Amino acid sequence: MSDLCRDVEIGLSSTPKRLSSKYFYDEIGDKIFQQIMKMPEYYLTDAEAGIFSVHAEVIVGSWDMDTHRPFDLVELGAGDGSKTKILLREVLASSYHVRYVPIDISHNALDGLKKSLASELPDLQVAPLQGEYFSVLSSLSSSDRPKVVLFLGSNLGNMNDDEASSFMNQLGENLRPGDKVLLGLDQIKPKGVVLPAYNDPAGITASFNLNLLRRINRELDADFDLDQFAHRATYTEEEGIARSYLESLVNQSVRIAVLDRVFHFAKGERIHVEISRKYNDKVLENVISTSSLVIRDKFVDSKSYFADYLLVKE
Ligand code: AVI
Repeated sequence: MSDLCRDVEIGLSSTPKRLSSKYFYDEIGDKIFQQIMKMPEYYLTDAEAGIFSVHAEVIVGSWDMDTHRPFDLVELGAGDGSKTKILLREVLASSYHVRYVPIDISHNALDGLKKSLASELPDLQVAPLQGEYFSVLSSLSSSDRPKVVLFLGSNLGNMNDDEASSFMNQLGENLRPGDKVLLGLDQIKPKGVVLPAYNDPAGITASFNLNLLRRINRELDADFDLDQFAHRATYTEEEGIARSYLESLVNQSVRIAVLDRVFHFAKGERIHVEISRKYNDKVLENVISTSSLVIRDKFVDSKSYFADYLLVKE
């Protein structure tokens, strides 16, 4: 049984129903996410690119690397690398000996990134690694090069606090004292700014989330009628968490042939599909409190919407 199959069976048998946002990213989902990152309401991408454009020199300097000693710049979930290229240009201009190691589960994403880097930054040494973050990271820990790990784009925010804690614990365990992590996290801010990023009037986020049902139809031979579900997003500043749901618009039954099961949805019933946690220093301190990582520095954009934290392995 595939992970998707197992997780769909467990999630749709639970009360309330849930599905994991990690399954958003099939080929269609990847393309819709590229569109999301270009939406005017989705401020996260521009804010983080702004931090890198303004502070690239200080950020790269904060890694405290020796220009004579080669180091690995490892990126977890590299995607198209557009923001990272701002830092990579700075690293090359400052004559560091760097090997860039983008890690991604998707062969496609890595191939595209490798090609664009070969033409835009031909002097950069690139060693892509395909696989799950930690199996690949642990294979790297045998190298005696110092490491800087990039985990950008508020990707940690798609985990709840317990998952984020155990992720950061594992990340710390795969590093050596003195290694660094640059962690990009969207900051807690008013609803008027956050909610439109997850509920755009053009409906791009809605199609991103509904694509999960399309994927289940295709991969698990299900008969979800996408017109009978609607995207709903919530956010409260007190909690700092945006949540997305798919709400059933009618009483309906959906058959998933691969599971040989029928699931019932009441009118108004919601499937919880995503959490996008927003951070401040206190929330992050709490999440990394049991890890071997500590906050050493913090870089923010002009509106303080987004922050890139420099963490050090003790
Ligand atoms: C990938 N991740 C950080 C995005 C976010 O902001 O939570 C995913 C996303 N979901 C809806 N819009 C963007």
